[in-house]
Amino acid sequence: VADVAVLGASGYAGAIASSLIWRHPFFSLKHVTARSESGALLDEIHPRTRVPLLLEDWDPDVQGEVDAALVCWPHGVSAPAVAELRERGVRVVDLSADFRLRDRDTYEDWYGPHGAPDLFGAAVYGLPELYREQIPGADLVANPGCYPTAALLGLAPLARAGAIKDVVIDAKSGVSGAGRSLAHNTHYVEADENMTPYKVERHRHTPEIEQELAVLGATLPITFTPHLVPLAQGELVSAYVTPAIELGEGELADLYHEAYEGEPWVEVKLGPPGVLEVRETNYCRISVHRDDRTGRVLVFSAIDNLWKGAASQAVQNLNLMFGRDESEGLG
Ligand SMILES: NC(=O)c1ccc[n+]([C@@H]2O[C@H](COP(=O)([O-])OP(=O)(O)OC[C@H]3O[C@@H](n4cnc5c(N)ncnc54)[C@H](OP(=O)(O)O)[C@@H]3O)[C@@H](O)[C@H]2O)c1
Repeated sequence: VADVAVLGASGYAGAIASSLIWRHPFFSLKHVTARSESGALLDEIHPRTRVPLLLEDWDPDVQGEVDAALVCWPHGVSAPAVAELRERGVRVVDLSADFRLRDRDTYEDWYGPHGAPDLFGAAVYGLPELYREQIPGADLVANPGCYPTAALLGLAPLARAGAIKDVVIDAKSGVSGAGRSLAHNTHYVEADENMTPYKVERHRHTPEIEQELAVLGATLPITFTPHLVPLAQGELVSAYVTPAIELGEGELADLYHEAYEGEPWVEVKLGPPGVLEVRETNYCRISVHRDDRTGRVLVFSAIDNLWKGAASQAVQNLNLMFGRDESEGLG
């Protein structure tokens, strides 16, 4: 058994992560933290977690007495806490963006000064389908962003095949993607029955997607536009690829089946996926199509932004770090 602390358990991702660890056969949930709601029971704040643990204030000498931590804080504030945990030998999965980028200038350009420069570059990028070999030896894993998770799983087979000349990534997310404090400020009357693009031209997941596409062999600037849609949770990426090489429908299907046939959490289907098909699961569901008229390749991938896009992927990473079956505790 390994003891785990969840920092930021009062948030959306932290609450689900706490619930998964609470029921996990190997990990034991010892601490959950919050700021304003410390002193309350987690299952009073988030009844669906059914975790009857008291939310504590962050104190590295208290929560640092564990084997592993899931840090579910915003970027910027996360890095110094991760550093304190690492100093105490705690193995960390960080859900923020603080350790995802490998180039310091790029990080500072998109996020500002880094909160733990000595640790910059020390993390393994925690997309198990791409980094399964490196995660088990890692003490610090940077859990990917929700859009990058869906976009990269959707595009990886094409990127590896050298098949992406250009790509437009059109993405939609439910309101929980913004986190609890921002979602609280999203007025129902403005979000419901509405759909709006946001952070047009400069969403922070752009350099993350470009970084990992380049690792896969596709170095190019992408067009990425997210949209807010009136769902609580769920995320759909539609990627429109101008191919660099000619790929027939059969070759495309083979590429995706070969890439994902052994993957427990990626489903390749004939028909386009919907977000309800993956809701509250660790699955990413993908379909790939060739538009014969334009020659473009269309890829659709659906995830639950709070699960595969955040909390359950973090548990998948933690499983790998501790040499467990990566699906343990994920249903
Ligand atoms: N939502 C998603 O779909 C999603 C997907 C992938 C990754 N992520 C990432 O996961 C992390 C958590 O996201 P979330 O959606 O769960 O956010 P959230 O619902 O807003 O929760 C944030 C948590 O961090 C705590 N927190 C906020 N500011 C803090 C500070 N300055 N110092 C200490 N604690 C602070 C909050 O405590 P209080 O409740 O006391 O304010 C809360 O527990 C973020 O880095 C986010 O980018 C989110």
